[in-house]
Amino acid sequence: MAEIIREGNLFHLRNERISYILRVMPENALAHIYFGRRLNRLNPDPVLRSVGSGDTYNFTLQECGLDRLPQEYPSFGLGDQREGALRVENADGSEAADLRFVSAVIEKGKPALEGLPATFGENAQTLRVLLKDQQSNLQAELLYTVFDDCDAIARSVKLTNGSLADLRVTCAMSLCLDLPDDRWDLITLSGSWARERSVYRRPLTPGHQGVSTRCGASSLQQSPFLALARRETTEDAGEAVGAALVYSGNFTADAAVYQNSAARLLLGLNDREFSWLLSSGESFQTPEAVLVYSTEGLGGMSRAFHSLWEKHLLPRKWVGAHRPVLLNSWEAAYFDFDEEKLVSIAQSAAEAGVELFVMDDGWFGHRNDDTTSLGDWQVDKTKLPGGLGRLADRVRALGLKFGLWMEPEMVSPDSDLYRAHPDWAIHIPGRAGITSRHQLTLDMSRKDVQDFVVQSVSDTLKASRAVYLKWDMNRNFSNIGSSALPPEQQRELPHRYILGLYSVMERLVKAFPDVLFEGCSSGGGRFDPGMLYYVPQFWCSDNTDALSRCQIQYGTTFFLPPSAMGSHVSAVPNHQTGRVTPIETRFAVALGGCFGYELDPRKLTEDERSAMVAQVKYAQDTEETRARGSLYRLLSPFECNDTAWISVSGDQAEAVFTFVRAQTLANRAPALVKLRGLKADAKYRVEETGETYFGDELMYSGLLCPVKQGDAASLLYTLKAVEE
Ligand code: DGJ
Repeated sequence: MAEIIREGNLFHLRNERISYILRVMPENALAHIYFGRRLNRLNPDPVLRSVGSGDTYNFTLQECGLDRLPQEYPSFGLGDQREGALRVENADGSEAADLRFVSAVIEKGKPALEGLPATFGENAQTLRVLLKDQQSNLQAELLYTVFDDCDAIARSVKLTNGSLADLRVTCAMSLCLDLPDDRWDLITLSGSWARERSVYRRPLTPGHQGVSTRCGASSLQQSPFLALARRETTEDAGEAVGAALVYSGNFTADAAVYQNSAARLLLGLNDREFSWLLSSGESFQTPEAVLVYSTEGLGGMSRAFHSLWEKHLLPRKWVGAHRPVLLNSWEAAYFDFDEEKLVSIAQSAAEAGVELFVMDDGWFGHRNDDTTSLGDWQVDKTKLPGGLGRLADRVRALGLKFGLWMEPEMVSPDSDLYRAHPDWAIHIPGRAGITSRHQLTLDMSRKDVQDFVVQSVSDTLKASRAVYLKWDMNRNFSNIGSSALPPEQQRELPHRYILGLYSVMERLVKAFPDVLFEGCSSGGGRFDPGMLYYVPQFWCSDNTDALSRCQIQYGTTFFLPPSAMGSHVSAVPNHQTGRVTPIETRFAVALGGCFGYELDPRKLTEDERSAMVAQVKYAQDTEETRARGSLYRLLSPFECNDTAWISVSGDQAEAVFTFVRAQTLANRAPALVKLRGLKADAKYRVEETGETYFGDELMYSGLLCPVKQGDAASLLYTLKAVEE
């Protein structure tokens, strides 16, 4: 049960497992006291003394200043020398925002955030705290939500300019978390195209460390996530705090250590790429940030995130619903196709049991490579003479569903759209600028552009009666300027872009409730909780190599759920790495996420084709366990030659176990891998070998993993609980 208890100046948010405590200080500053394991009650004084000078019992601001006070929403310019959460430029040029507590309200449920994706939950409890700068009349409403069934706290801030003058907000974080000590390791997920979300762990040290993006998206290079883990915390045990931003644009995730070894975590919009004109009477809503807490190590932290997104963020219609096994045409044909070729690929896929055929890039304008036609969403009749309708009908006649690709936020300079509306692209007038992948980004902050995007996607979905749309986005921002914004608001463009994108997504998912939207951004470049509010799955990476995917998927699951992680079997030699891996391993690894194919099934050998038929069936049969079970990462590909994970169904009666050995080693005995998540006293049969074991044997002694000789060898075992 979620509850919020007010005891005098103390607010205590808690459920059965976690507590979050804040306190109004004598001069109405709002202090942070505690986030962690559930408490019955807490005397805040020891915490405050531990970060102060020891004898500052009342902790008045005169005695100790703001610089040591653990705060909920610190601002710049008032004596806290640490990095702050809020910075405003007042009409007089000063930067102070002296926010003091005014009132607090406790309410049931979880309010929506205007214009932004956010978690929801009927049985949650929310605390609204109103802070105010008495001089400027700037108000900050801090929202805190505690969930009944997840070890998470959601936070966001709404600023309102109550003065008669305009203000400029130059920093508005979603979350500040002050911690009394720095004995933590910081974990971030960083990478690049085709190498997304590698795990980086290092001790927190004095000064700043963290990640941020300025490319207009949450990005391929960083993720809007960070975790703090105690030095001794492992995958399975120990304290971990995770923080994630429900946002898809530029962000900052900063962890810093200050005097007295106090640590501060900040998460929110990247303030170096942002400012916002807040006119008198106007409000500004920050994106939502969530905190999760685990005593079951990094695995527990990840499962807390997965459970939160599944229960309180992902589109309701798709949670728990079957996701069709798909075959995507990209690596099968790239731009080189016509109607007959696609139908022939689709037919071969249908024969193997595939449920959905997806036509990727290249079907519109005169797009035979990536230099042209984005924005001209009219079918290329030289490739598809019967239009989208006839192709889609022929695919459906094979017993398949039909889906297709678009990149709606983009325009090619070589397009009728660009020739008609050059000002619709993000650009700085008078500057030549650069294109990237021969394309420009449409200015999604503009209402006319938003309407165009909604119209072109709607027309395409209607013409094809597609039930799936792969929404791609392949370009970073450059020459950042909008012809629709006045000079003093140009720096609002990155955030206005994302608000425009969300508004478009909102309109489309409402207008097409039965269409499954899949996100994509050169692979996993915008795979974040913000997008997951609209799209239940995301193409995890353009790298489909099984060994690369072991790392990419391992890191991705740190905060994103396996059910949302698009993962496909592709051909060998792999198109990104040139590596040849066995089909069983490509299959076993692709099963780690939302399963499909990225190859031309007509080119498979007889053996591979029969394997494919069995694979599709297996993927369907185990979907419930893999997508909605609990994930336990067992061996890390960042630490050793082997990777292993297990998905365990909610009732612990079924599990899917995967083991991959990257490099074969001569004279190497098979690994004994300790499983997790099973019932200790239940008996399990390994379906593939017929052997039976008790859960405790498998978890505490281990399961033997005798893989074949050869690189990238793997095992895929299905465990089923059996009667004695
Ligand atoms: C990038 C995506 O990640 C690929 O899967 C593919 O859709 C291409 N774009 C098409 O241009």
